[in-house]
Amino acid sequence: MLSDAKWICAEADIGTVSPLFCKTADIKRDVKRVTAYVSAMGVYELFVNGKKVGNALLSPGWTSYKNRLQYQQYDITELMSVGDNNIGILCGKGWAMGEIGRFLTPCVYTDRISAVARICVEYADGEVENILSDQSWECYTSHILESEIYHGETVDLTADVRLVGAARIDSEPKPPLIPQICGAVTEHERFAVKEVIYTPRGETVLDFGQNIAGYAEIKIKASRGSRMVLSHAEVLDSDGNFYTENLRKARNVNTYVLSGEKDILKPSFSFQGFRYVRLDEYPDKELDIREFTAVAIYTDMKRTGYFKCGYEKLNKLYDNILWGQRGNFVDIPTDCPQRDERLGWTADAQVFCRTACINYNAESFFDKWLGDLAAEQGEDGRIYRFAPFAGKERGGRISAGWSDAAVICPWELYRAYGNKEILTKYYPMMRRWIEYIRNFGDEEYLWIGGDHYGDWLAMDAGEGQRFGATQTDLIASAFYAYSVSLMIRISEAIGEDPAYYRQLYAKVREAFRGAFMKDGMPVIYPKADALSTNRPVKAVTQTSLALILHFGLCDESEREGLARHLARLISENGGRMNTGFIGTPYLLHALSDNGYADVAYSLLLAEHCPSWLFSVRQGATTVWEHWDGIREDGSFWSPEMNSFNHYAYGSVFDWIFANVGGIDVCSDGAGYTHVTVSPVPNRRLGFADCGLMTRYGRLGVFWKYIGDSVSYEITVPRGVTADIRIGEIKKTVSGGVYRYIV
Ligand code: BGC
Repeated sequence: MLSDAKWICAEADIGTVSPLFCKTADIKRDVKRVTAYVSAMGVYELFVNGKKVGNALLSPGWTSYKNRLQYQQYDITELMSVGDNNIGILCGKGWAMGEIGRFLTPCVYTDRISAVARICVEYADGEVENILSDQSWECYTSHILESEIYHGETVDLTADVRLVGAARIDSEPKPPLIPQICGAVTEHERFAVKEVIYTPRGETVLDFGQNIAGYAEIKIKASRGSRMVLSHAEVLDSDGNFYTENLRKARNVNTYVLSGEKDILKPSFSFQGFRYVRLDEYPDKELDIREFTAVAIYTDMKRTGYFKCGYEKLNKLYDNILWGQRGNFVDIPTDCPQRDERLGWTADAQVFCRTACINYNAESFFDKWLGDLAAEQGEDGRIYRFAPFAGKERGGRISAGWSDAAVICPWELYRAYGNKEILTKYYPMMRRWIEYIRNFGDEEYLWIGGDHYGDWLAMDAGEGQRFGATQTDLIASAFYAYSVSLMIRISEAIGEDPAYYRQLYAKVREAFRGAFMKDGMPVIYPKADALSTNRPVKAVTQTSLALILHFGLCDESEREGLARHLARLISENGGRMNTGFIGTPYLLHALSDNGYADVAYSLLLAEHCPSWLFSVRQGATTVWEHWDGIREDGSFWSPEMNSFNHYAYGSVFDWIFANVGGIDVCSDGAGYTHVTVSPVPNRRLGFADCGLMTRYGRLGVFWKYIGDSVSYEITVPRGVTADIRIGEIKKTVSGGVYRYIV
């Protein structure tokens, strides 16, 4: 598509200013179609005759720059006319050249912004002319004086835009170009100012009422040269002051110098994770809050799932989970959208994947990211802790539960959408990943040692500990078994011989039981635990029990005892869970699948810390990274690792969907072709209305308490087979609405 076009960059050093590459396209006569193909090392916006083309933001998106880079295609026929037309490509540093990752290493992939383009003019008479980027293009400066994704943007609308000179051919090797894979990042919901807050410290703060990823857009007319400077924050501190410490080194400041005309101010190549905006500078006039709108940006995806019940705090949690997804689906699945991180962390993505695929159609979104995960896979099969790489942070830890995203995410996509091609495409990555574990250390069938994140942020290892009390060797070996068990099902689904994985699974399971189980309970593995040095490690934890139960690492005869013990641990802990990233996603499943649905519900509806509704009670509008991000007394857990928009714990929605709603995909029903419907009503909820748009239509469950009875209405689209299981009712149905009172 772009192979004949040359990559171009600025001839002279223009410092931090965003370059604008321009070309006059002479359209000689009537055209049938004009198509533009564009990409950049950096981020870009395409303009035709001064008008921005399309509504995509941050194109070409973030991929593994080493291995692949997307280009976009635009139909610009309507914007072109016979005669001279101005084509402009305005660029920013973006992920390729900006400061990204926790070390903020600049110029990671390139030390210059460059762009490539082909304008394909198809004349009405059939002649085709290609206008390619080359040294005949010109490079100008722009109003964007500085732009960094993490730090914000400085826009001076009074700055002279000057010709720098002819574009220079950039002969540095560039990554192979591929077409855009998923929806573009675009603007979505808009929020007006809810309240103006004058803080004790004397700051003027606008509260938009919702924590989002995006920016504040300002429509304003004020004197030429006057300035507007905005800082961004997710929360206020306990004194009510603006709080930015948790953003760490990400500055998140947008600065504007106004033109004197009616201006629309917003960053082109930066976004912030925020709910509050502090007006550090505002033109010399009375504050008019109607000028401000917070705009959420995220990848375009079709909304599919829905949930509502008669328990308002749970509805609020669901809303927060949706916002966690929106805020962290800005082109790649990120851990958080605000601090100097915003990386494609693998555990976060794998634990949330099922929930994400219920809420929205996220198939192509994850497909794009999995392509990067595969592209960054090590020679020896290792899967790194996040993808794409970021600066110095390439490589690093290989952790159980993180790297296993290589198997779990494709599996979840298949489960949700039934597309075998996803499995086939990533099968080589998965195979190599399993071999990496098998070859790791001395034990072929256990995963012992290594540098794991453990049960990240669990609260059972005491104050200030991040890795939780569960043995990392147990977690790692359990994930080894889980990933291999998925490989059996994946191989079967795509017609590969599963024998190898069946044998491997039997050995891994046996080794797991030999090393970590005694008399039906987990025990300490005698060899040193990778992270045991300065934290207490326990054999029997909520997480170890949840993993053993959920991954089927126990014998059937041991189930009851393990589940009873899990329920007891929770009760001994004051009805509280204390699990982290690894245990939490499976905890409620492990309880309800083994006869303790009531305990699962009580954890779901608990409001003390740690619990999902604690953050709701504390006024959260997104899901927090830490159970105690803001403590009861208003103090913060830590300034260092305290995001208020981390979707990982939002993975509880897959339990809600499968238990409150009761909808689950059968092992032979990938893509919701065959499901079970077995809701577990709870009186405190009163009613629940839950479902999703499948490819075949709406699959929905509604139940409601009427006195001591529950009435059910189950909607099954034609093409979907549903095994309804409600008390004594056992029916297999399709295409219809089914009502019961039980
Ligand atoms: C991220 C996490 C991630 C973790 C690894 C953090 O800094 O924000 O969500 O999974 O590191 O332990």
